[in-house]
Amino acid sequence: MSKESHMNTSAASDAADAAARPLAGKVAVVTGAGSGIGRGSAVALAGAGASVVANDVNAPWAQETVDLIVASGGAALADGGDVSNSSDVKALVGKAVDAYGGLDVMHANAGVERYVSLEEMAEVDMDLLLDVDLKGVLLCAQHSIAPMRARGGGSIVFTSSVQATHSLPGCVVYAAAKAGVIAAARTLTLEVGCDNIRVNAISPGTIDTPMLRRDLDDMNVEESEGFLDRVRAANTLGRIGTVEEVGALVMFLASDASSYISGTNVYIDAGFTAVKTF
Ligand SMILES: NC(=O)c1ccc[n+]([C@@H]2O[C@H](COP(=O)([O-])OP(=O)(O)OC[C@H]3O[C@@H](n4cnc5c(N)ncnc54)[C@H](O)[C@@H]3O)[C@@H](O)[C@H]2O)c1
Repeated sequence: MSKESHMNTSAASDAADAAARPLAGKVAVVTGAGSGIGRGSAVALAGAGASVVANDVNAPWAQETVDLIVASGGAALADGGDVSNSSDVKALVGKAVDAYGGLDVMHANAGVERYVSLEEMAEVDMDLLLDVDLKGVLLCAQHSIAPMRARGGGSIVFTSSVQATHSLPGCVVYAAAKAGVIAAARTLTLEVGCDNIRVNAISPGTIDTPMLRRDLDDMNVEESEGFLDRVRAANTLGRIGTVEEVGALVMFLASDASSYISGTNVYIDAGFTAVKTF
């Protein structure tokens, strides 16, 4: 092989490595990473080469996600903090900086849901939803800004929901929190764009996660089958989404492939928001 063709082969192999691992050398935090969408995101980010701190208030679940990542050759650490507590979020970000040298990606994803009418909702549940689904997301973003600025930029992704913009009964407080998250992404980008930090929200439709399974368990068999049939009929692909599909979107928004996308909300719902009725 000539010297020139050897250099071409090596450049091609570097390019292939960069394409396969677009987040190599990056550091990511994912909250609510012990289950569902958060676990799917943590696995996707680690698979793309990022070192990941997997947070979940249920610490053994966070550790399970870390074990999955490490077993497939990735780098990850667990964190058991509560995203609604500022000191816990500060410590979570500090863990990423101390262990891996900085922070490039924050996926503020932890969330809780209670299906109950506003009239009947207990104040304790209202506080929980607003604390985790809205304040928790804001705290994660707030504590990410300084370390991302120190790295010359970063990507913040909030998990919202189709329910922020497309109403379902029993979801008033959840919808208000999730709509707040979209507004926060749009507004925060004005404050941090100058630091090359991008902020986006994602709005999943119905994704097969333990949260969905718990909701189904609360229904009788007929109700849950009817619900699943209606969900399938209410999107254009006729099926429920997977955490791997959401993980791929987070990976895209975390990577330089989305370098000109900021302040927006990306639906991942197979056209649920395009279909007129549910
Ligand atoms: N599953 C869906 O169809 C769907 C659709 C739209 C939006 N979402 C949103 O996606 C996110 C993930 O949902 P999921 O379906 O994977 O749910 P999930 O219940 O499977 O996972 C949520 C995780 O967040 C953790 N968590 C809860 N409170 C926390 C706190 N205070 N601090 C840290 N971790 C905490 C839980 O322990 C759990 O492991 C949520 O924000 C949810 O609102 C889900």
